[in-house]
Amino acid sequence: MTAARRPVLLIVYHSLTGGTLQMARAAASGARGEQGVDVRLLPALQAGADDVLGAAGYLFATPENLAAMSGLLKDFFDRTYYVALDRIVGRPYACLICAGSDGSNAARQIERIATGWRLRAIADPLIVQTQAQSPDRILAPKTIAADGLRRCEELGATLAAGIGLGIF
Ligand SMILES: Cc1cc2nc3c(=O)[nH]c(=O)nc-3n(C[C@H](O)[C@H](O)[C@H](O)COP(=O)(O)O)c2cc1C
Repeated sequence: MTAARRPVLLIVYHSLTGGTLQMARAAASGARGEQGVDVRLLPALQAGADDVLGAAGYLFATPENLAAMSGLLKDFFDRTYYVALDRIVGRPYACLICAGSDGSNAARQIERIATGWRLRAIADPLIVQTQAQSPDRILAPKTIAADGLRRCEELGATLAAGIGLGIF
């Protein structure tokens, strides 16, 4: 007899200066504390349609660059959108945005794609602002404050717990 496969929470991220990566890792760490779920943390470039189809829920994580999600997260959606369309309806998702001072448009773009996929948002977009606004600060490696990481950890745990319990 083969053991039943555990549901997978897929976390897809891109990060240029490290902020989103820290947020995604914190969410993964929170999610791994929950029972009954496997967590896959993948860079956007390495994630494909099979990963999307094989997951029970999703966390999409991106910086806001030029008032948009990052190009590589967009590339992930471009490669997977039509393969997964109509095949992942109703699955839960949330998103993490790392921004200098805004983040709202990246969140809106992800929400539109998730609406097309007919995913179910389990939380508002979690936006952490690094206050990087000068070129020097924008290009510098980021350190996300403990409060921001804690919020990401909690969101990862909430999503994973709901998937594990089958309540989403
Ligand atoms: C090319 C570029 C464009 C950016 N555009 C925006 C923007 O439109 N809105 C914003 O709030 N922050 C903007 N930022 C700031 C980043 O969102 C911020 O530095 C964030 O911490 C980057 O996340 P990361 O460390 O995961 O790359 C931009 C940064 C870069 C490099």
